[in-house]
Amino acid sequence: MKSTSLLFTILVSCSLLAGCYYDNEEALYPQLNSGCDTTNVTYAGSVVPVLVGSCYSCHSNANAASFGDNIRLESYSDVKSNLTRLYGAITWDPKFTRMPKNSGKLDDCSIRIIEIWMAQGAPNNIVPQGGVR
Ligand code: HEC
Repeated sequence: MKSTSLLFTILVSCSLLAGCYYDNEEALYPQLNSGCDTTNVTYAGSVVPVLVGSCYSCHSNANAASFGDNIRLESYSDVKSNLTRLYGAITWDPKFTRMPKNSGKLDDCSIRIIEIWMAQGAPNNIVPQGGVR
């Protein structure tokens, strides 16, 4: 009996502590805070790495014909001219095919970076513009 109530107390304390610990913004949205750099967004430094990591396997110049329906997302001009459908595809807008194909949605930070870059006018930059976050 005694050990049962001790166990109960421990369980309750643990869940209360866990409740407090997780009830903060950083724990709830880790990518938007600790890991996500939304202050220095650039095409070369922020957007291209997302495309390399999640899209080039099918949409690089070399792979587009075989795997990417001939949609190339490697050069800046190709990315820029496909931007509306690129954004629609990664945000899973029903008007477009969901991308990355056969995979989960991009993480919030990657999508946010592309949004910020687009809000800056989608420049071909390697130096941050600032302004929009
Ligand atoms: C596994 C291969 C693969 C990956 C990875 C992939 N795509 Fe695609 N993508 C395709 C194929 C194939 C199509 C043609 C439509 C279809 O067959 O589903 C396509 C279509 C598209 C389209 C046109 C969608 C439309 O409705 O007009 C866009 C834009 C696009 N991809 C962007 C991306 C982006 C951005 C990424 C990375 C976040 C990505 N894709 C990752 C294979 C891929």
